[in-house]
Amino acid sequence: MLKLIFLLILLVQIHSIEKKDLFDETQFKYLKLKNRVFRAPVIDCESWVNGKLTDVFYRRYDELSKNEVGTIITGQMLISDDKEYENMVRINKDEYIEGFKKLTDLVHKNGANIIAQLGPFRKTDITKDQIHELENLFADAAVRAQKAGFDGIEICANHHVLLSQFYLLYSTIEMMNMEEVMKTEQDL
Ligand SMILES: Cc1cc2nc3c(=O)[nH]c(=O)nc-3n(C[C@H](O)[C@H](O)[C@H](O)COP(=O)(O)O)c2cc1C
Repeated sequence: MLKLIFLLILLVQIHSIEKKDLFDETQFKYLKLKNRVFRAPVIDCESWVNGKLTDVFYRRYDELSKNEVGTIITGQMLISDDKEYENMVRINKDEYIEGFKKLTDLVHKNGANIIAQLGPFRKTDITKDQIHELENLFADAAVRAQKAGFDGIEICANHHVLLSQFYLLYSTIEMMNMEEVMKTEQDL
């Protein structure tokens, strides 16, 4: 009998759990999402010309946010002035804030959110000093993103970019000498 009552209580509880689907509104602590659809970060071609976001870029983000994308994560935006990737969107100067503000206003007007993905693109050996420089570049870029009205930032650290060196063992080993490798192994 007790088991039956317990089962009934459980069934009532399960029934009363609010079911949400992909298209339901959701509230994170500080952020309201019109649904749970995210656009993954994708570097767009034709995004950045002569230090400005292009009309094609604005139109693309307008289209996405008007439709069923609740949150757009931008493609990687450079936090430093990397000459090699001239056509990549960058957020390394205050003068770019205005253009990004226009972008975030557009997306917010359509009821969606927008997250800025930040990163240094190039994968290369770096010194300890450069690591600290990197911290500052990230912090400055994050402040600019906040001023421009982005709802958050994402740090790009996937397998092709610089930060992946810190978690991919094979590329980390290249940067360390053998003594350090053995010490790391001992520590592990
Ligand atoms: C053209 C292109 C550009 C991309 N740019 C980025 C990027 O800027 N940052 C990032 O983290 N991932 C980037 N990605 C990876 C995607 O966000 C995604 O993780 C990947 O395409 C796997 O998802 P899928 O299986 O749905 O395609 C890119 C992918 C493509 C195809």
